Amino acid sequence: MHIMSNESAQAVTLALTGASGAPYGLRLLQMLLHAGKRVYLMMSEAAQIVLPLEADISLPTEQSEQQRFLQNRFQADEQQLHLLGLKEWTSPVASGLGAPKSMIICPCSTGTLSAIATGASTNLIQRAADVAIKESNQLILVPRETPLSAIHLGHMLTLSRLGVTILPASPGFYHQPKGIDDLIDFVVARILSQLGVDQSLIAPWGDS
Ligand SMILES: Cc1cc2nc3c(=O)[nH]c(=O)nc-3n(C[C@H](O)[C@H](O)[C@H](O)COP(=O)(O)O)c2cc1C
Repeated sequence: MHIMSNESAQAVTLALTGASGAPYGLRLLQMLLHAGKRVYLMMSEAAQIVLPLEADISLPTEQSEQQRFLQNRFQADEQQLHLLGLKEWTSPVASGLGAPKSMIICPCSTGTLSAIATGASTNLIQRAADVAIKESNQLILVPRETPLSAIHLGHMLTLSRLGVTILPASPGFYHQPKGIDDLIDFVVARILSQLGVDQSLIAPWGDS
């Protein structure tokens, strides 16, 4: 009988890709670490181009320096926040035996969406998502594109039918946001809710 260790239950895979919306991914990372989750983090090449344009972050180029930079920024040690390279095919997220039970891609580009829908697995982000689907693990994609073409919609439908959660980065306004941070938190709260992580960013529906 397989008993899931507390550690694997507490681990999540988080990938940032090159869609607009890096602040969603960074806020989500912060909240996951705050909730005591162990995070395997990946960033696509395009994500690393978008990141400094959208957030107050200038990431070093070397992976080991990026790891240290992120640890400092998020006050996490290497055990809790582990940055993976895009070709680390032997890392835990690349296999059904080691992968965390939940993976989120936030933001998710339409390019990565397409690669996942077709099983391309050309980098570790796409491979980890492919593993999540074949293992029936939780996979949440946070796409950001507008307008959506029939290609994008078709890929989303394919993945939704496989049990993947499509959670577009489309904040509502009924919580009367005071600024951008409130709009970011609207989306992040929904992701945390899907993961079963307690959150106090947004009041539950029905609470005033
Ligand atoms: C500033 C910037 C904003 C972008 N915004 C989006 C976007 O909102 N949605 C999207 O799907 N692609 C967007 N792209 C394009 C993707 O980065 C590009 O398609 C890339 O190949 C995605 O690769 P990845 O999925 O490996 O990250 C943007 C690119 C840049 C530089």
